[in-house]
Amino acid sequence: MPFGIGSKNTVHAVDNASPQSTSESQLAALTQTAQAQDPIAPSDIVPIVRDIKSEPPKSWKDNIASNPLLTAGVGVVGFTASLAVARKSIMFLADAVKRHYLIKLEIPIRDQSYAWFLQWIHQHQRNLAQANRGGIAQADAPHVSPFTSPIKYLFTRYTPRTHYLSVATTLSQHENGSISTSFALLPGIGNHIFRYKNAFIRMERTRELKNLDPQGIPWETISLTTLYAHRNIFTELLSAAQEQALKSQEGKTTIYTSWMTEWRAFGQPKTKRPLSSVILDQGIKEKIVEDINDFLGSGKWYQDRGIPYRRGYLLYGPPGSGKSSFIKALAGDLNYDICLVNLSERGLTDDRLNHLLSNMPTRSIALLEDVDAAFNNRKQKNEEGYSGANVTFSGLLNALDGVASSEERILFLTTNYKEKLDEALVRPGRVDMAVEIGLATEWQVERMFQRFYGDDEGELEPERKERVNELCREFIEVLRASGAFEGEGKSGISTAELQGLFVYHKHSPEDVVATAKAMVQAKQSN
Ligand SMILES: Nc1ncnc2c1ncn2[C@@H]1O[C@H](COP(=O)(O)OP(=O)(O)OP(=O)(O)O)[C@@H](O)[C@H]1O
Ligand SMILES: [Mg+2]
Repeated sequence: MPFGIGSKNTVHAVDNASPQSTSESQLAALTQTAQAQDPIAPSDIVPIVRDIKSEPPKSWKDNIASNPLLTAGVGVVGFTASLAVARKSIMFLADAVKRHYLIKLEIPIRDQSYAWFLQWIHQHQRNLAQANRGGIAQADAPHVSPFTSPIKYLFTRYTPRTHYLSVATTLSQHENGSISTSFALLPGIGNHIFRYKNAFIRMERTRELKNLDPQGIPWETISLTTLYAHRNIFTELLSAAQEQALKSQEGKTTIYTSWMTEWRAFGQPKTKRPLSSVILDQGIKEKIVEDINDFLGSGKWYQDRGIPYRRGYLLYGPPGSGKSSFIKALAGDLNYDICLVNLSERGLTDDRLNHLLSNMPTRSIALLEDVDAAFNNRKQKNEEGYSGANVTFSGLLNALDGVASSEERILFLTTNYKEKLDEALVRPGRVDMAVEIGLATEWQVERMFQRFYGDDEGELEPERKERVNELCREFIEVLRASGAFEGEGKSGISTAELQGLFVYHKHSPEDVVATAKAMVQAKQSN
């Protein structure tokens, strides 16, 4: 037992001895004292004394180092600190990599590309999956041989899957008026990886539930991230998305309505209505179409003369005479879209109207329906401003004048009551051409009858064809006898009413004539 040697005093003396005072002689004296008190051989003591002699007295650092609790604490703190440093370094590195080697593109929901991209990615993923299933080379990926470059080949075959989907339901209207529904499964909110032309792209779709538009639709953003080396892929991808969107809208007219200060597509694009299906009185359609084509071809002429490049049309006439139908068919014929303005819309201010009319999507016609309603209100209020709406009369005139813009602007106004319109509105520059679209004339009745029952397709037997012509003449005769074409040569029947009659008896022109006769008789006996 090494610490059993010597008395407590002895050990105490050794402990308290300062390094400077512990000399050889003191040690010898101590050894002797110990021998005298304890009969242990000197040989046993020497190593211990030697230990004491060689061990330097402990400094505060040594004390800390020898304290197991403290060292454990320091270890934990050190470990945590190193972890934090490592984390920071990784983050810094990741950030540096992101900045130098990655590129990010943001597409906000209000950008046109947003809808285009979602439509495109749906089709793109479907194409990739189909190509992989069928082992077919993908159209947008360069051909890679599995023998010469196996790794590259595997990459081109790998299609990351999307696990979070959202559904987009599309209602499409066919030419015959029927509506069909289709569903598209789009990448939902969250992160997705997809491949385009051998570049892997990370897509993040986020939705801010706190940020809603007036229609209650949350704000959304799509962020695309890829390697900096593939930066050009974004332009290619967006061009492909745009091309696909335009292709899907071919043969269709988009109707835009105002949404705050911008235009938003209202529902799905509508199938174009053929211009030939709208039957206006003789020469009217041709007159408007010729004028608008002339306008569209005279951009330079307007520019050279410093005249604002815009043209306004007013179509007036009774309800159901085909004003709105004609404008929509005309837009389709010109390959234009329609921006619909509702002057009675709540919250539509002068500034907003002005802004909207000055910032229409390209290739679109502005359509202000029932513009007289605004004037009615103005008269009732007998002041500058319509009741129920915030647009003032002068605001409307200013908006129609618009800012001097080199961009073309085609404006159509419609009304049932031209006489209620203010002179200021229909002055040239605001309305350059006012056309009456009246009740059906003999000419229109005949065209409409033939369009419904005639031989447009060349399928009728000659006898049947002759019979239809006969019925058509009889129908016109009945209307004429009823005094319908008297006065200004109007039948007193609107084209919408005619259409209703023909649709009701769609397979029997005989029934149409019989119904007309019955109606006239009933009218005369009253
Ligand atoms: N001239 C026409 N040729 C073919 N169809 C017509 C014609 N006029 C009306 N129609 C048919 O009648 C319906 C109503 O027509 P439309 O909405 O174009 O009339 P409108 O003149 O705009 O009426 P309103 O003044 O009430 O707005 C449409 O379904 C349209 O197909
Ligand atoms: Mg209308």
